[in-house]
Amino acid sequence: MCKETGGVVRFRVYDKTITQSIVKEGFMRRSTYCGSIKESNIGEEIVVCGWVHSRRDHGGVIFIDLRDREGVLQVVFQPENKKAFKTAESLRDEYVILVEGVVRHRPGGADNSNISTGSVELLAAKLEILNTSFPLPFDVSDCASISEELRLKYRYLDLRRPNLQRNFIMRHELSKEIRNFLNEEGFLEIETPFLTKSTPEGARDFLVPSRLHWGSFFALPQSPQLFKQILMVAGFDRYYQIVRCFRDEDLRSDRQLEFTQVDIEMSFVDEKDVMCVVERMLARVFKTLLNLDLRVPFERISYADAVLRYGSDKPDIRFEMEIKDFSCEFKDVKFGVFSSALSSGKVVRGLCIPKGADFSRAEIDGLAEFVSGYGAKGLAWVKITDSGAQSNIVKYFKEDEIKMIVSKLNAKSGDLIVFLADEEKIVAQGLGALRLKIGREYGLIDKNKFAFLWVVDFPLMEWDKEECRWQALHHPFTSPKSPDSLTKENVASAKARAYDIILNGVELGGGSIRIHKSEIQKKVFEILDIAQESAKKKFGFLLDALSYGAPPHGGVALGFDRLCALIAGTESIREVIAFPKTQKALDLLSNAPSEISDKQLKELGMRIVVKE
Ligand code: AMO
Ligand code: AMP
Repeated sequence: MCKETGGVVRFRVYDKTITQSIVKEGFMRRSTYCGSIKESNIGEEIVVCGWVHSRRDHGGVIFIDLRDREGVLQVVFQPENKKAFKTAESLRDEYVILVEGVVRHRPGGADNSNISTGSVELLAAKLEILNTSFPLPFDVSDCASISEELRLKYRYLDLRRPNLQRNFIMRHELSKEIRNFLNEEGFLEIETPFLTKSTPEGARDFLVPSRLHWGSFFALPQSPQLFKQILMVAGFDRYYQIVRCFRDEDLRSDRQLEFTQVDIEMSFVDEKDVMCVVERMLARVFKTLLNLDLRVPFERISYADAVLRYGSDKPDIRFEMEIKDFSCEFKDVKFGVFSSALSSGKVVRGLCIPKGADFSRAEIDGLAEFVSGYGAKGLAWVKITDSGAQSNIVKYFKEDEIKMIVSKLNAKSGDLIVFLADEEKIVAQGLGALRLKIGREYGLIDKNKFAFLWVVDFPLMEWDKEECRWQALHHPFTSPKSPDSLTKENVASAKARAYDIILNGVELGGGSIRIHKSEIQKKVFEILDIAQESAKKKFGFLLDALSYGAPPHGGVALGFDRLCALIAGTESIREVIAFPKTQKALDLLSNAPSEISDKQLKELGMRIVVKE
């Protein structure tokens, strides 16, 4: 059984002198935390409390690893101290105990460099058992591999694991540092309602029935979007909130039903101002938490360029493997798949897979199968070898065309080039996903890197084929780049004053300069086919507010859970949320959601219809 609690910690755990001094105030039974003990405490009498992490009997001496949130301290019980020794014999894992004793050096050669207290130990004088524990359903050490279902059911035990405790200490530090920064920059933290009207963020709302107004519902906010804009109209000028948002959407590793945003709004600003505040805020927290100097300003890339070069609007730029477009060059090639695709307005793009020339036929078929999941109808490939280009399509290309391909993709001998020919969306998504798959599987991504990127120049709207109408790409309050010349006829090419911030291929946040004039907002609603009546009913309060001297304003919201997960180096935001829902949207700890009583239903004027 693995009981180590060391391991590499990427982020700086907070200043332990704070916790040391808090307990030294003397209003508690213990004098310090287990994990705070250092060589400088040798000779001191201390009182510590915590959980029995492990117990070892060694030739008449009992060793306890005692754990609290700050770490683990070795406690030694010697048989000469009969009373404490006898009690120590009855200790089991996860018993809660208090120990008094003297800190001493570990006897020669017994140091444990894996833990911060590895050179010291506590020689116990007194032991008190504060509580016992049933045997645990799983081991709470860092390296235990436990099913997530079990972990979430017994989350209070799961959260005892040292690496999870570190994640939440880091989360606390991060929010504290973000608040420090924003407070220093003159932002005001103002709360906005949780019981509100639906905002159009694009996901489904969570609804709360009103007991006093049968048939009417509050919506939990998908974000404080409208309220923060109204706070600008009210003159607060710089607002922030670290705030819970609620979206009824399908869950993934980076999505929860309730999640936290660092929500920011500012008046009298343009895109650069908002982006600059975010950059400085991130630079500050990365310096404090990770001692990393971020290079600001972050790189900027247009949406069109991101989709072209990386096949994604959230590119992971920790590795290269850029996609190149061959639509011009391949117009007249003999290979029918390419030339006929191009003559019908489709595109041909390619990607070079470093050292891919030794892929077997089956492996290449596997790649074709993978991109077919994105709608691709095939995958053309060319191996670059010392003896020239090899593939079933090489015969269709002239020598100088092959040279052009190799040079454009900067391919080397030993590489594999792949092409997709199809509609732009399919090609971009297929190659974008393939790029990431290869990057991840072949270790091309430097996991220690933090690669920030702004994506800008988003289209204002996109055509929704199913609903046959335009939809806002961000939200309908985003300002167009040229609001005065915007019409229904030119909306396809209209750009938004919006920006997304990407970290390591994850959409960390997004924001925009807003529409601050009611006539422009009305025009946008019209193009979005939100009828005047409906707009009035849904967002009348915003339209009204915009007509009473609304200042130009804009803002941004960062996904706080995603930022924590990226800093902690975890795949899933569930590792940085104390009580997350499962992938199936269940809370296994409290068993929510659950049925409610007939009395509760009656009060709400509701009846449950059995699902067919
Ligand atoms: P947006 O909808 O892009 O913008 O959300 C901002 C950021 O919030 C995070 N996020 C989520 N995190 C976890 N689980 C979810 N279900 C989830 N949904 C979103 C992402 C995302 O980038 N009001 C606008 C912001 C603005 O314009 O100022 C908004 O909410 O990291
Ligand atoms: P074929 O001429 O059908 O044997 O195809 C030759 C090669 O082109 C095969 O490797 C196919 O996988 C590939 N191919 C077919 N359709 C496409 C497409 N739309 N894009 C890229 N490659 C394709």
